[in-house]
Amino acid sequence: MAKIVVFTGAGISAESGISTFRDKDGLWENYKIEEICTAGCLNTKRDETIKFYDLRRKDCENKKPNYSHLELVKLEKEYPNDVKIITQNIDDLFEKAGSTSVLHLHGFLKEIYCEKCNFKINISYDSLKTLYNECPKCYSFMRPNIVFFNEEAPKYEDLYKEMLDCEFIIVIGTSGNVISIDNFIRNPHSRIKKSILNNLKKSSAINDRLYNKVLYKKASESIDEIIFDIKEYINK
Ligand code: APR
Ligand code: ZN
Repeated sequence: MAKIVVFTGAGISAESGISTFRDKDGLWENYKIEEICTAGCLNTKRDETIKFYDLRRKDCENKKPNYSHLELVKLEKEYPNDVKIITQNIDDLFEKAGSTSVLHLHGFLKEIYCEKCNFKINISYDSLKTLYNECPKCYSFMRPNIVFFNEEAPKYEDLYKEMLDCEFIIVIGTSGNVISIDNFIRNPHSRIKKSILNNLKKSSAINDRLYNKVLYKKASESIDEIIFDIKEYINK
């Protein structure tokens, strides 16, 4: 496991033009989470939920990775054993930047899977409604490969494993409302010795006093300093 974990959220893709969730004009201002992206919503509001993710997929198609994605992927390629990029994002901007090993904790927009047999398909930017309603293997319903609120997130196990060896955590662009990185830092068994927090502004769900360095500015304006610190840590 890598000793340096870069933990990212919607803020890192904001400068590529993808809406965050909880900022002003964020996605949750326009949609009701409890109706469309919550466990059970495929039974109660199936069309709305499918449409919501069809729109997200289309929206992603022309979005380009920004400077932060590109610099982080460059670093990941240079130090594959030392650096792990983890994201809560479902977009493919790290992949567009060239990564093949980013850990997506909340699913991946381009994928759909069968509710019954778990068969998975990459539909790229297509729409689920018109293309693959039924599983080609067992004819059950296909659904977006997205972890909804109150659903289990299978990849959290990988997150916990990664955090066991983490010595240096860099948090970029997350409000901390869904996953509390603070808890990993506070954990008495944690190996974390160094930490950086980079968000646009303070979040009520993150205790910034826990972090060694706090950068409240755009990711693109922070990333050079972050990369410098990471390289310094690796080469120390
Ligand atoms: N650079 C750095 N940080 C930014 C930028 C930017 N250009 N723009 C916004 N931010 C920060 C905001 O300050 C905020 O702290 O990004 C954070 C976005 O927070 P949220 O919208 O809550 O997104 P995130 O924390 O990733 O959401 C977590 O919630 O609904 C779900 O499953 C969804 O994975 C998502 C999870
Ligand atoms: Zn199936």
